[in-house]
Amino acid sequence: MHMNKRALVVGNWKMELSHKGALEVFGALQKLIHAKEFAVDIAVCPSYPSLPAIAELARDTSITVGAQNVHEDEKGACTGSVSVGQIRDFVSWCIIGHSEVRAREHDSNESIARKAKILLGHGITPIVCIGETKEQRDGEETLAVLLSQVDILLKNLDRVSIMKTVIAYEPIWAIGSGELPDANSVYEVMLSIRKRISQSLDNELADRVRLLYGGSVQGENVGQYIAGSGVDGVLVGGASTHPRDFFAIISQVATSYAQ
Ligand code: PGA
Repeated sequence: MHMNKRALVVGNWKMELSHKGALEVFGALQKLIHAKEFAVDIAVCPSYPSLPAIAELARDTSITVGAQNVHEDEKGACTGSVSVGQIRDFVSWCIIGHSEVRAREHDSNESIARKAKILLGHGITPIVCIGETKEQRDGEETLAVLLSQVDILLKNLDRVSIMKTVIAYEPIWAIGSGELPDANSVYEVMLSIRKRISQSLDNELADRVRLLYGGSVQGENVGQYIAGSGVDGVLVGGASTHPRDFFAIISQVATSYAQ
């Protein structure tokens, strides 16, 4: 099943690092990864001010760069926002729909689909975050919530766009909390998402879409989600700002995904 896919490990640095800190973390990570052959795609997502410098450092390395968000319009009078044209020279990826952004900017599923479209139009791969709240989980609404988030993408994106898009399942209650879902429930979610894609498009495409897990990922807990659960990688917040921790996650994903 993994034959045509590589695992993907994405570091979301959030607002945690100064510019100097971002350069240092990147340098240390690059040193750890240097000359190692991991069958894993690795990306880091710094804040906007550090994107040009990190993109420059990442050139000719095996680390790629992503942004943490983008505005849904190509251009406009949107003070404080950043457009796709302003990031496209620096990034291959862009996280959209992160729950922290959804909460702050009231991003709807429709506006997230628009962002995905704009990014793909500029050759940037969207990493679309979906996830349920604790209340929704307790109310056994998890799958309904997640599938409605997936449906909007399926409705708005064509086949090729869906194939390129990465979907990151991040239970909102697991982000930054140290609380983790059990591997079986993540397995069930992944299976349901693939089934939905397969029903709407086809089996082959459903297998090819990369699905990530995110939320309190560490080197010690990541293996359970990768081994045999249909998860193609992880989106890592806090631990990705610590080069050794992030490196441990990458190594573990490389080992578990190959099995
Ligand atoms: P966390 O964050 O790894 O710190 O829980 C994950 C995320 O927000 O993407």
